Amino acid sequence: MIYMDYAATTPMRQEALQMYVEASTTFYGNASSLHDVGSQAAQLLESCRLNLGKLLQADKDGIYFTSGGSESNVLALQSLIEANDHNGKHLITTTIEHSSIQHFFARLETLGYEVTYLPVDSKGLLDLEVLGRAIREDTILASIQHGNGEIGTLQAIQEIGSLLHSKGVLFHSDCVQTFCKVPLVLTDVPVDSISLSSHKVYGPKGVGAVYINPSVPFKPFLPNTTHEKGFRPGTVNVPGIASFVTAAELLHEEMPANQERYKQLRQMFIDLLSDISSDAIIEGDSVEQLPNILGVRFPGIQGQYVLLECNRNGLAVSTGSACSTGQQIPSKTIQALGRTSEQAQEFVRFSFGKETTEVQVTEAAEILNTLLAKFFITQ
Ligand SMILES: Cc1ncc(COP(=O)(O)O)c(C=O)c1O
Repeated sequence: MIYMDYAATTPMRQEALQMYVEASTTFYGNASSLHDVGSQAAQLLESCRLNLGKLLQADKDGIYFTSGGSESNVLALQSLIEANDHNGKHLITTTIEHSSIQHFFARLETLGYEVTYLPVDSKGLLDLEVLGRAIREDTILASIQHGNGEIGTLQAIQEIGSLLHSKGVLFHSDCVQTFCKVPLVLTDVPVDSISLSSHKVYGPKGVGAVYINPSVPFKPFLPNTTHEKGFRPGTVNVPGIASFVTAAELLHEEMPANQERYKQLRQMFIDLLSDISSDAIIEGDSVEQLPNILGVRFPGIQGQYVLLECNRNGLAVSTGSACSTGQQIPSKTIQALGRTSEQAQEFVRFSFGKETTEVQVTEAAEILNTLLAKFFITQ
């Protein structure tokens, strides 16, 4: 099978697996236990916090480990909003956020908050002027992702953060798709919180992290918990965290080389696609773009059909949206670009990883070529 769904999840790398085994067998104590076995686990946990802080160039004291990107988004947003809602009840986000954020804001709307969902342009980019106009006296927070998981468009989080902070608005950014894929240096980005996920960077599933600027007040989701300095309840998953940070450190080191390779593979795939089908439409921005993600539409062909045919021929891709038996729900992100629901159903995402090769890209293009030829003959 050629795997081109790395934006959905990655396989664990060997070094991360080894660390998981070592931490589970040697540092198995509960990091909150007062005996030496617990202290050893706590020491490992704190060294992971320090090392993750170094990767982000952020204060380690602002890092809290969680169960993944979705939980990181929800806990960061909840903690910041609850501590600051005496200043107002207006929130800002975009129409292309991850479902964890969309669903969380939908819930807040039922609790008396007002949420402005900002549109993006046809490439998925947020206009700073549109953002500026949406900010009100009672706006307390904006949640704007760094990179989109479906089309790979990158937002200008530095400028966005500066604008928000100049108006006294808190800024949360979902960095799940960008961490270790493109540079993310928190000393350069005026951000109050970010979310990360381990399984997107060759670490274990069910592990993630939040960074909250230590100078920003927040109110923990549950009162009176002790783990993770009260930010999140539950025995801390020290082996998972050690494994995550090991994977992240290695991928971070490899990032410049990977970025270059993905750019070349992406361009090669785009060139091959234009040979196969003059109709193929690339979604996303050509410059502000994650190099490992390529979103495509083949007009007139459902993405679900492409996915299933690719799968039958040994190529794993994604439609970027939930599928249920025989029915594809059109991707909200693609509709937010101004496409119709039929066009959104044509969307297919190819995403590359460390193991992706030129040979695989060529084979993937051949599979698509055969698939398209067969589709149009049978029409
Ligand atoms: C942008 C973005 N945010 C959050 C998540 C959720 O991360 P997790 O699967 O760790 O909950 C994803 C996963 O696809 C994502 O792409």
